[in-house]
Order: sequence, then structure tokens, then C-alpha cells
Amino acid sequence: MEEERKAKDALAMEYRMRFAGFPVRKTLEEFDFKFQPSIDKRVIHELRTLRFLYNAENVVFLGPPGVGKTHLAVGLGIEAIKAGHKVYFTNANTLVERLKVASMKDALEQKLRKLNSFKLIIMDEIGYLPFDIEGAHRIFQLISKRYERGSVIFTSNRSYGEWGQVFQDQMIATAVLDRILHHCTTVNIKGESYRLKERKKYGLTGTKQMESVQQ
Ligand SMILES: Nc1ncnc2c1ncn2[C@@H]1O[C@H](COP(=O)(O)OP(=O)(O)O)[C@@H](O)[C@H]1O
Ligand SMILES: [Mg+2]
Repeated sequence: MEEERKAKDALAMEYRMRFAGFPVRKTLEEFDFKFQPSIDKRVIHELRTLRFLYNAENVVFLGPPGVGKTHLAVGLGIEAIKAGHKVYFTNANTLVERLKVASMKDALEQKLRKLNSFKLIIMDEIGYLPFDIEGAHRIFQLISKRYERGSVIFTSNRSYGEWGQVFQDQMIATAVLDRILHHCTTVNIKGESYRLKERKKYGLTGTKQMESVQQ
């Protein structure tokens, strides 16, 4: 019986892992905190308890490319899945596209309800590409609906001050940030790209230029 239950749980977890749509399966154990001293380990430990999730709070990872924002977001997502929750990982611009399609089919409300059925949403890469005005509105709708009801983890290479440009509208950006930041942990990562470090290690004396071209 015990064995059977364990096998069932493992299967359910694997199902949730696949359903989450992580681009990679990176765990918090795999994260080298020594390499990124700007991250307060205690903050990540606190997040790992998933208290933020039970309190419907948000998490934002900010920093330049390659510093581990997606890794940490996925790592927390995996913790949530291990604890039995449903997680949805999406690239921010892909999400905007999906919301647009839903809207064209007159099914935006339905789509937003479906998204809100996830205990945790991870919105990756806010700011690599600016949203168009409709996209910005839809993201605002999603965030408003979820406000104080469910957690979102965001990652962004843009500081909050630059979100006006990302949303192409200062008022929407302010309204979005107002809701996100009301109950939120911000992890500001300042440091070198881990990808660059790996390249250096293998003697590929990559330049900063190469880094920026590849990102
Ligand atoms: N401190 C770290 N320890 C271990 N691996 C790391 C660390 N930081 C980044 N990485 C790895 O480097 C790569 C880039 O990290 P990623 O999370 O995609 O960066 P970002 O999302 O900030 O651009 C990934 O393969 C990630 O697992
Ligand atoms: Mg990333």
C-alpha cells in the first residue's frame, strides 16, 4: 500500500512538472550561492519555506542576463510542485501572445480564470521585449485579478524604474507595480553572468561583447 501510494505521488509530481512547462529543471540545490554573493541566502531560505505562496505574495528577481534569475524562479517552482501545488511557467511575451489569442476568441475571461487556478505563476523575462499597449492591459488584468489571491514570481532584466518603458505606459506600469509590490520580496542580483564564468573556465575567453550578442 505504502509503495503504491509513493508511486502514485511520484507520478502525480512528474505530471505537475511536465504541466508546469519549465524551460530547464534547475533546483535550488544546484545553485552556487558563493558565486553570487549579492544574493542573501537567508532570503532564498525563507522563500523556500513557501510561506510567500501560502500568503499569496509575490517574488521578483531582478538583474542582468546570466545571473541566475530563471534558475532561482524554476527552483522555487519545483519546491512548490514538491509540496503538491500546480505551477505554470511562462515567458512574459509568450503569455501576452496567448492572452491575445484568447481575447480574439472572446475567451479572455476564461483564460484568466484558468491561469488563476494555478497556485503559482512564474512570468519570466519581463522587459526583454516591450509589451504593446493591448498586451500591457492584459497583463494588468491578470495581475489585478490575482492580487492578494495568488502568487506570481517575475524575473526581469529591467529595474522597476524602467518598467514604464516595458509597459509603454507609465500609468499602467505604476498600477501593475503598485499591486505586485504591495506584498513582495525583491531579490536584486548584481554580479557576473554565470554563463560567462563557464566560458572562461573552458578557456573560451569570451568577451563582454560576445555575451551581449548571445543574450
Ligand atoms: N549561482 C549559480 N549557480 C549555479 N548555476 C548558475 C548560477 N547562476 C546561474 N547559473 C546557471 O547559469 C545559466 C544562466 O542562468 P539563468 O538563470 O538562465 O540566468 P538569467 O535568467 O538571470 O539570465 C543557467 O544554466 C543557470 O543554471
Ligand atoms: Mg532568464
